[in-house]
Amino acid sequence: MECYHLYMTTATAQAFPNIAFIKYWGNRDAHFRIPSNASISMNLGGLETRTQVTFDPALKNDQLTLNGKPQSGKSLERVSAVLDLVRQMAALQRFARVESNNNFPTGVGIASSASAFAALSLAASAAAGLALSEAELSRLARRGSGSACRSVPGGFVEWQAGEDDLTSYAFSIASPGHWDLSDCIAIVSQAPKPTGSTEGHALAASSPLQAARLADTPRRLDFCRRAILDRDFEAFAEVVEQDCHLMHAVMITSTPPLLYWQPATLAVMQAVMDWRKNGLPVCYTIDAGPNVHVLCPTASAAQVISGLTLITGVEKVLAARPGGPTHLV
Ligand code: PMV
Repeated sequence: MECYHLYMTTATAQAFPNIAFIKYWGNRDAHFRIPSNASISMNLGGLETRTQVTFDPALKNDQLTLNGKPQSGKSLERVSAVLDLVRQMAALQRFARVESNNNFPTGVGIASSASAFAALSLAASAAAGLALSEAELSRLARRGSGSACRSVPGGFVEWQAGEDDLTSYAFSIASPGHWDLSDCIAIVSQAPKPTGSTEGHALAASSPLQAARLADTPRRLDFCRRAILDRDFEAFAEVVEQDCHLMHAVMITSTPPLLYWQPATLAVMQAVMDWRKNGLPVCYTIDAGPNVHVLCPTASAAQVISGLTLITGVEKVLAARPGGPTHLV
């Protein structure tokens, strides 16, 4: 591991959230967030988290503000846990002030933890004088939120499950310019979700379907990777929807069950399936929440967005195209 001491105390980083095409659901090791299966995603360019970290000798504890609002409790603890790892690596004792802002509406149920922990990892490590490699940064971001490791590299990304902390990290499989896909996010509810993904992962193994889902994952990963590399939308749509259904089948059959869908979620799913049957290249995927990520080649995005806004229960639609890596600003 190469580390250069830059003697910086402040650094600012920018990161994008990501949407998984092959989902991560369940951990082999919850403490290190080593996933039960590998996953594939795309960074969501245009939706940005910008985070400034300042290690300040005058501070008596870590401080966090999110969109200008001071945070305490669980969210501060999770940030401090990542800062502790950085302090350990840099042999640094100082506390930090963390100021994080999202340019996309927060609290609308778009996973912001991925971009948050990717930006935090880069800003904190740079402010501590560490120059981490992409894989090292990805591993650090993973400790904050598993899917955050996929927001570190750019474009289309694969997170190799690995076996331990050293071998579990993400890398690019194609650049953002490789395929002009759009993610049109249909927001159907802005309420905070009842069960967050950290608790959700812990329930995955209680579903009798999880073992079958995991056994078939290598096939779906190969199929999805190939579809992306070939820019084959038809094959892509088939595997992305199947993978989404498999994850939600596991969620619904866990003990206790997790049912994230709302009536409008299903309305969007059915509309998208109809549109595809009628020749429009479009498909969907859904994370641990009710909102629907509707994917299409950007050439069809305007048509997809106007169709989505007509569906009862769709409050708004956000659009994103393939985003680059987490970077310093
Ligand atoms: O990184 P987490 O713990 O928020 O988990 C993300 C889980 C899903 O969004 C449902 C799937 C994924 O691979 O992003």
